[in-house]
Amino acid sequence: MPLNRKRVTRWLVRIAVVLLAVVLLAAGGVFALSQSRLTHAYTLPNETVPVSSDPAFIARGRHVAVISGCISCHGEQLAGRVVFDNPMVGRFVAANLTRGKGGVGSKFGDADWVHAIRHGVHPDGTSLLAMPAREFYVLSDADLGALIAYLKTIPPVDNEIAGSALSPIGRVLLLTIKDIALLSAERIDHNAPRPTPPAVGVTTDYGKYLAVRCTGCHGDTLSGGKIPGTPPEWPPALNITPYPGAALAQWSQASSSARCAPARRRAAINSTIASCPGKYWAR
Ligand code: HEC
Ligand code: HEC
Repeated sequence: MPLNRKRVTRWLVRIAVVLLAVVLLAAGGVFALSQSRLTHAYTLPNETVPVSSDPAFIARGRHVAVISGCISCHGEQLAGRVVFDNPMVGRFVAANLTRGKGGVGSKFGDADWVHAIRHGVHPDGTSLLAMPAREFYVLSDADLGALIAYLKTIPPVDNEIAGSALSPIGRVLLLTIKDIALLSAERIDHNAPRPTPPAVGVTTDYGKYLAVRCTGCHGDTLSGGKIPGTPPEWPPALNITPYPGAALAQWSQASSSARCAPARRRAAINSTIASCPGKYWAR
């Protein structure tokens, strides 16, 4: 009957309109909620760290940069590179840190360096995207100062690359996955009293200070597992605690310093942020 068919069509259209409205409303909600977190401006404590051009200080800074894995994301010359790019998830571009064209080195004052590395915050107060500042927060004033002094001496490289951005799926992940390391500044208690740095030495305290850099992937207790929010094909970070039966419990000091090598890296993984940055530590 033609009349009935008309009624059915009318209902189908109504349902489609309602569904479309629901989808649009959800999308708008995701955008608004994520946008307010992306544009939140942080007020940071007034901190200064010693920055000197003394060669020994700069050499210490280079060491801090190496053991912190800055190269693994910012590239061999620290001139910036795209670390992850997926049109649906987002684009994460580790900035050009040099004084060349497109580099933050030409614009940053010491306070800007402190805000970016220790607090994960841009000069405009908003959070950096996917920059592991939470792992650098513990750096002592002396180590951070040395790192900044070193960064100011690296050769300028011209490399102008478009900045980082979060796409729709990335925004959904930000809202739904607890502990996802996307908004660097959100994961730091900016006004907490500064931790007391341990003396440099072969001590568990100093080892703990160094190991904070490993927690971003191996977890706060270093017990490994899936890195929150990473694609399914990325390997879980290894449990590096000396649990009974762990291969690591049997490692000698010499073997462990050479390990965390990309040897076991799955062939499917071509993103360096998915793998342990151990290859850089021997420098
Ligand atoms: C896991 C990858 C990764 C590592 C390791 C890393 N960074 Fe970054 N860094 C990023 C990304 C991604 C950005 C860009 C963030 C953005 O555009 O919001 C960034 C941005 C920066 C910025 C720019 C801030 C700005 O306002 O544009 C500085 C400075 C910086 N990183 C310094 C360092 C230093 C120093 C180290 C080593 C101690 C380091 N990063 C290690 C990923 C990384
Ligand atoms: C960017 C993420 C990331 C960071 C940072 C990181 N690791 Fe790893 N690590 C991994 C992943 C992923 C694996 C597992 C690799 C695999 O299975 O192929 C791993 C494996 C290891 C292994 C086992 C290597 C082997 O051959 O069995 C050791 C040891 C290790 N990491 C130590 C460390 C230490 C110590 C630190 C800090 C100084 C650290 N990692 C920082 C991601 C990371």
